[in-house]
Amino acid sequence: MNRPKILVIGSGGREHALAWKLAGDTCRPDVFCAPGNAGTAGVGTNLDIAATDIDKLLAWAKANKPCLTVVGPEAPLCDGIVDRFNAEGLKVFGPCQAAARLEGSKVFAKEVMLAAGVPTAKYARFSSAAEAKSYIRKEGAPIVIKADGLAAGKGVTVAATVEQAEAAVDEALVQKAFGDAGATVVVEECLQGEEASILALIDGRKIVMLASSQDHKRIFDGDEGPNTGGMGAYSPAPVVKEDLWPVIREQVFERTLRELNKRGIDYRGVLYAGLMMTKAGPKVLEFNCRFGDPETQAILPRWDGDLLPALEACADGALGEGMVRWKPEACVCVVMAAGGYPGSYGKGDAIDGLADAAAMKDVVVFHAGTKLAGGKVVTAGGRVLGVTALGRDLRAAVDNAYKAVGKIKFAKAHWRKDIAGRALSVRND
Ligand code: AMP
Ligand code: GLY
Repeated sequence: MNRPKILVIGSGGREHALAWKLAGDTCRPDVFCAPGNAGTAGVGTNLDIAATDIDKLLAWAKANKPCLTVVGPEAPLCDGIVDRFNAEGLKVFGPCQAAARLEGSKVFAKEVMLAAGVPTAKYARFSSAAEAKSYIRKEGAPIVIKADGLAAGKGVTVAATVEQAEAAVDEALVQKAFGDAGATVVVEECLQGEEASILALIDGRKIVMLASSQDHKRIFDGDEGPNTGGMGAYSPAPVVKEDLWPVIREQVFERTLRELNKRGIDYRGVLYAGLMMTKAGPKVLEFNCRFGDPETQAILPRWDGDLLPALEACADGALGEGMVRWKPEACVCVVMAAGGYPGSYGKGDAIDGLADAAAMKDVVVFHAGTKLAGGKVVTAGGRVLGVTALGRDLRAAVDNAYKAVGKIKFAKAHWRKDIAGRALSVRND
């Protein structure tokens, strides 16, 4: 029998985790990654096609007929890759362009949440810097400024003072630092509490929530320093207590889906809700129209059983609760980054110890910014590896992950030493 082909689009740790998990499915699929990294080359075949080159991706898919294409990053989703593939009769996991606006436009996401009654921060939108600043002075600090469009993770400023907030408004509306993506800003209330990510698979109508997780956005221990793409993640996140699950399902996912349906928008794929657990209950900080990175690296090792049927069912409108089961173990992903990241950093440094780490029980090393050069794995990006381990509880998973980190060496490697630290202290309280 022919092995089914799957195309995974993207090149980060999230895509390595997706490719790794899919390659282990019982149908033993042939996984292709565009463009992938040194890690995905170990579980499948890399294609020399950029994640944003929809024409070339479509041409490859028409010629090779994958049973499913899984889109990792937001840019091709917001550019309408799903609509293009569907028009050619190709099955694809991810939302159509109209649905991806939940991530692509913060103004749109806020409008949907307001209309749907989804709990979120109070907000106003502005294209005029003077009007934005007058609103900020009226509201006072702390306050949050967000560029409307996709800004590669750099469009959000949590301002501690009115001056910082005004500077963020100028950056977007006057200096146009984010181009068109910052032509409108959302100014919103600063929420207090603990953050968690809840992702849900959606097939247009049905919602299946995935295991909870938490990201660590700042570069240094203790949540200090600049924001990054994410320095580590763990699952489950104990801050999402049992009694909150039905609340999040109804108030966040069901209400959002109902509102989208009312607008004639069909959401199929994964919807990522970044939540703040406030004293008044969970509130949505942001929606993403794709799997989180590095949350996916901490979630997928806990997925019990095959992944492909659930992702196909999203595209087919045939999702069932029984398709998603979890192992009881906890999982922790520690990101090893190149020194200097998220600022400028070196590339091309040899990485040693990968095989030793990967040989450890319950450990998997997901690659992000890596490539093969002369048969050796070398650094090729800011976030280099996501060293991931399962354990019978979070403490054991943390210990395992850091033991594996200790086996891996590359020049000027930087990693946080406190991944899941807050969850461990919450548990011990
Ligand atoms: P985003 O890029 O939208 O994920 O936002 C980046 C980070 O900014 C979030 O993970 C939060 O830590 C923070 N953030 C965004 N919105 C708010 C808000 N309304 N109140 C407090 N923090 C926020
Ligand atoms: N980990 C945050 C994100 O994927 O946007």
